[in-house]
Amino acid sequence: MELRPLGTTGLPVSAVGLGAGRIGGADSSETDVDTLVAAALDLGVTLVDTAPSYGFSEERLGRALSGRRERVVLSTKLGYGIPGVPDWTGPCIAAGVDAALSRLRTDRIDLAHLHSCGIEVLERGEVVDALRRAVDAGKVRVAAYSGEGEALLWAVRSGAFGAVQCSVSPVDQSSLSAAVAEAGLRGLGVLGKRPLGNAPWRFRDRPPEADVAEAWERFRSLALDAGGLGWTELFARFAAFAPGVSAVLLGTASPGHLAEVVAAVERGPLDPAAVESLRAAWRRVGSRWTGRV
Ligand SMILES: NC(=O)c1ccc[n+]([C@@H]2O[C@H](COP(=O)([O-])OP(=O)(O)OC[C@H]3O[C@@H](n4cnc5c(N)ncnc54)[C@H](OP(=O)(O)O)[C@@H]3O)[C@@H](O)[C@H]2O)c1
Repeated sequence: MELRPLGTTGLPVSAVGLGAGRIGGADSSETDVDTLVAAALDLGVTLVDTAPSYGFSEERLGRALSGRRERVVLSTKLGYGIPGVPDWTGPCIAAGVDAALSRLRTDRIDLAHLHSCGIEVLERGEVVDALRRAVDAGKVRVAAYSGEGEALLWAVRSGAFGAVQCSVSPVDQSSLSAAVAEAGLRGLGVLGKRPLGNAPWRFRDRPPEADVAEAWERFRSLALDAGGLGWTELFARFAAFAPGVSAVLLGTASPGHLAEVVAAVERGPLDPAAVESLRAAWRRVGSRWTGRV
């Protein structure tokens, strides 16, 4: 698996990372997570992204990675969920870092994202300063922001972050020409989340989850041309080679699905005409759609 620089952070990351949002629930066992992590490492996947809001994902990863923690760039998120401490405050960030270190069984978080706060939180400064102090203390290597729209652009331009995370796929193109391109030029790492756009082709009828339903509606409206490729391959290669993107985060609980996406990305960038066809469909139909948080 290709290793790429995460902007100018000095961290190399695999072009495909494991998004661990699907392994925190009751439908995954600790054995399943061990198997998935072992498969990821075998495939050369060295980037793993989790969050406190993904059920038991952090705890399970901490356990599965014990003894091999140094083989991955470990990414998580902050800003909420500390009992007795108001969300989106400096103390919540400080306590959140310590709680994540403990759940992940590590002494250092490689990438810590502010998890989808609005621009007003960023502008207030308190939370950004608290994250910088965690970097100064050696508990976090790279301060990062995850989000969309004006807050993402603010984060890219602020100088406060070494990396950002946002949605990138044929059904999530709203950040490509502005925030992602500018992040690349400024030397920030960019993690493309939802690279399959939640794989909307799987559903015959409108799926129940709001974010997946939105992707499904976009997919139908865009009426994309797969150009003879499978949808998984088309989406994965589009996202992984979008200008400015350092790596994509595939959300999966399935070693086979991860291997399929790794193999697709190893086939390299899409033909430029295929990329232009996806970009043109977006300009025609989707240009007013905002980034899916
Ligand atoms: N920062 C944020 O606010 C935020 C928000 C959303 C996502 N993320 C990050 O991005 C990651 C990915 O996002 P996501 O899971 O929402 O979207 P995604 O990666 O676009 O889609 C994941 C969905 O596609 C399925 N899938 C995966 N590989 C497949 C394949 N080869 N063929 C068919 N279906 C496949 C998965 O199910 P299976 O388990 O069955 O494979 C899952 O339901 C998350 O885990 C997280 O790390 C961050």
